[in-house]
Amino acid sequence: MNAKASFPVRRQDFDFAEVSRHWVDNDPFMTHFFNSLSALFPDGERFFVDSVRAVREQIKDPVLQKEIGAFIGQEAMHAKEHHNFNAGAKAQGFDIEQLERWTNFLITLVKTVPFLNNKRCHLAGTVALEHFTGVLSARLMKRPDISETLEPTMRELWLWHCVEENEHKAVAFDTYRQLYGNNAADYVIRMSIMALATVFILGAVHVFTAKLMSQDGQLLNLKSWGKGLWRIWGPKGMFSQNIIEFFDYFRPSFHPWDHDTKDLLEEYTAKLNLAR
Ligand SMILES: [Fe+2]
Ligand SMILES: [Fe+2]
Repeated sequence: MNAKASFPVRRQDFDFAEVSRHWVDNDPFMTHFFNSLSALFPDGERFFVDSVRAVREQIKDPVLQKEIGAFIGQEAMHAKEHHNFNAGAKAQGFDIEQLERWTNFLITLVKTVPFLNNKRCHLAGTVALEHFTGVLSARLMKRPDISETLEPTMRELWLWHCVEENEHKAVAFDTYRQLYGNNAADYVIRMSIMALATVFILGAVHVFTAKLMSQDGQLLNLKSWGKGLWRIWGPKGMFSQNIIEFFDYFRPSFHPWDHDTKDLLEEYTAKLNLAR
């Protein structure tokens, strides 16, 4: 049992006191788009941790056990740091914590659906959402033109999170695969839950962004909306550029490491001076 996880858990303690109101490109829409994702993280990531922890004792492979331990450590740290940021935003007049509670409510609501309320479906939900975060975080690392528009503290927070999402992107997937295999029934479950998770995430991000734009008195700032939606959904958009990689999940033999992000990890681990 001397196996070691292939990635470390890094303690972080960011100071968000100096982060300005519109910390992405001095633009309301882009800032609230990122704030919306941040609102989803604390409870979303706690759900990931719980769903993996719930099946952990069934995993006999000591290497995967270590990976699960490090996965839990990383996600717990992400949840803590994003929650600290979200709580601090209150001083600027944005109630991101309220959106955290909405996230929690939505997760609780989905869990009340009888056929979804079991360990297998919870884990399949985590696998689906980990694909989402893995692909999106790789995109942010591939797009310095976007990440450089974030203020330095927030850039460090987000790129650290992006690195770790890529380091652990296969842990929930491998856990699921070891427990439930890869047969036709599994395929139907995983794909249906991915469809549901996609609606959940895309719906929440857009509604949350609108809610924060409204709290900011920017709901009718059409210029910021137009420019922002173009930067998310235009031909080179932060979401639209991921469509091919996103749909790769639906290939029966898909594995998260089919998308090789090792060079990106090397680059950003060095750039951010992160422990290995
Ligand atoms: Fe995370
Ligand atoms: Fe993750």
